[in-house]
Amino acid sequence: MEAMQPREFFIEDRLEKYRLHAECNLGESGIRNFSLSNVFNQIGVEANEIGSISLDDSPNNGSLELRKEIANLYDGNVSPDNVLVTTGTSEALYIYFHLCLSKNDQVSLLWPAFQALYEIPMMLQASIRKVDTGFRDLLHEENRLAIINHPHNPSGQGLSANDWKLIETFSNMNKSSEFLFDEHYRFLDFEKDLSRSGALLNANCSATGSITKCFGVVGLKIGWLIAREDIISKARSFKDYLTHTVSPISEFLACKILQNRLSIIAPIKKRIQENIAYFSSMVEKIPSVETFIEPKSGLVSFPKLKNGILSEPYADELYDNTGVFVLPGINFETEGYIRIGFGETVERFRKGIDRWVEWESHKK
Ligand SMILES: Cc1ncc(COP(=O)(O)O)c(C=O)c1O
Repeated sequence: MEAMQPREFFIEDRLEKYRLHAECNLGESGIRNFSLSNVFNQIGVEANEIGSISLDDSPNNGSLELRKEIANLYDGNVSPDNVLVTTGTSEALYIYFHLCLSKNDQVSLLWPAFQALYEIPMMLQASIRKVDTGFRDLLHEENRLAIINHPHNPSGQGLSANDWKLIETFSNMNKSSEFLFDEHYRFLDFEKDLSRSGALLNANCSATGSITKCFGVVGLKIGWLIAREDIISKARSFKDYLTHTVSPISEFLACKILQNRLSIIAPIKKRIQENIAYFSSMVEKIPSVETFIEPKSGLVSFPKLKNGILSEPYADELYDNTGVFVLPGINFETEGYIRIGFGETVERFRKGIDRWVEWESHKK
């Protein structure tokens, strides 16, 4: 049988080219990364404590200490045995899709979407139902799997109380379907500590999570899968063929970050809200942007461009003229939009937006 392969990851080439050099990086979907010493300060650790970590393999499931911290993020229905620590949520998603999906299975997801969420199912020859009318339309009796990415990348939208009710009832009634909640931005809820989670809402509800983008530590590459114990056991066995274990240094730091998460996340939420408010106050001076919907949680949004503006040339020109880096909608296979992130420092963000406004004022 011919091995199936994913297509190229459309956002990556551009991110690779600009992420390290952009003066104002709105292309990123996380907080601007912190330095290691800055993280040490935030978690109250001295640099020499790292020196005593043994560079062994960590336990295959992830250390019990970290799995306990992760389980504590959920409402008492998740134990450390329901947690598998992975190398980013990308690995958790890759494994989960392989365990869950077979040829011709129907998978529904909100469109546009983070590419890994449909590219890996497509590689597994699942059939993809793209839903662009809201979360509730993801629920379909013929689904093998509904992927519920909330807060959603790229649109920034979250689930309403009514959506939750529908999902709870539907997942309970459709026991032969699976529901995967991708909750990468769960720490960035502006109204409460954490966004509600779908993890083990019913036995067929699994979830992925991560600290990396919300806490500005993508280099730690720590993510996780929450699922029933039989799924976790199969996923662990699959992981043994991929990355096997995570770095003990990352694991140590991830654990400390979770232990100190409330004090770390407060200024981060403040920064994102300030950036969103600034963009909202300036967006009418950017005539190329037709509509902007403020993210309700998380840190990305998918503004619509004026009719006829192509996203890639627009993003290129914007970068060349102002140093402001945004992702073109075409990278999400959706023309006429751009994706912007609000994780920059307030100073860089404001400077960038001011340059964007200035450039637009001279455009014909
Ligand atoms: C919605 C969503 N899911 C999953 C991922 C994968 O994240 P990582 O593997 O870095 O944890 C991303 C990264 O941007 C994302 O936006």
